[in-house]
Amino acid sequence: MKGIILAGGSATRLYPLSKAISKQIMPVYDKPMIYYPLSALMLAGIREVLIISTPRDLPMFEELLGDGSRIGMKLSYKVQLVPNGLAQAFVLGREFLNGKPGCLILGDNMFYGQHFGSMLREAVESAQKGGAVIFGYEVADPRAYGVVEFEPIAETHELRVKSLEEKPAEPKSNYAVPGLYFYDASVCEKATNLKPSARGEYEITDLNKLYLNEGTLKVKLFSRGFAWLDTGNCDSLLEAGNFIATIQNRQGFYVSCIEEIAWRNGWISTEQLAALGKEMKTNYGRYLERLAK
Ligand code: G1P
Repeated sequence: MKGIILAGGSATRLYPLSKAISKQIMPVYDKPMIYYPLSALMLAGIREVLIISTPRDLPMFEELLGDGSRIGMKLSYKVQLVPNGLAQAFVLGREFLNGKPGCLILGDNMFYGQHFGSMLREAVESAQKGGAVIFGYEVADPRAYGVVEFEPIAETHELRVKSLEEKPAEPKSNYAVPGLYFYDASVCEKATNLKPSARGEYEITDLNKLYLNEGTLKVKLFSRGFAWLDTGNCDSLLEAGNFIATIQNRQGFYVSCIEEIAWRNGWISTEQLAALGKEMKTNYGRYLERLAK
């Protein structure tokens, strides 16, 4: 499975912060925001990733992450000229996926919690067999998100999706759909045939509805102990940073440390990890050196 990070958009809700730089490059405590979604893909075992962003911002991501070889990955980059919807990731990413299944994560979505890695790997396996996997996360007010309505399938642990709606005024459930999606190899074909919505965007929810109508859409729930963090406005951005700082300082383990995940995945050696740590004269760098020891 290959992965796509969509890190475009103009982030007008963060103005003036985001007027001259990409939201997804901004700090969330001690690391750029894109480290968080990138680390989710790495935890899923995905090693080949396409980063899509605006013509203005793409060079900055390239400077930050390069070709990915330093963390044992293969990263490539693609410009999205017009920010016309999330589903466009699979039109722009068609060549990259080259007929393979694909996972999409939004560059501003952050996840933290136990068993995240195993949930991700199960989703990879499921989408490789066919269909799509989305997630549901209970929130107090789901109106700003895609919303999924579901019911249990008797005598199984599975859920049947009843409906999907994008930013509904009257949501049918409190379950928002986070920006993390796993699709089988038919995703590019499906995305190419989508029509723009009333607001003129190629909606990810419409893409998911194609799988729903086909009867191949699965939803998995993140439980209440799990954190799916928002970074949409300056308050939620600050809160996300404070959350990461609290966890890291308490436990001493870093959250979404891409070098650590690469090392634990066996993608880089202990010597490489130590060398990466040595380059940074910060707590982050010292953390890598300590792990290597
Ligand atoms: C997008 C999707 C929405 C999803 C959300 C998750 O919304 O359209 O379905 O729930 O991401 O972050 P946007 O952030 O573009 O408003």
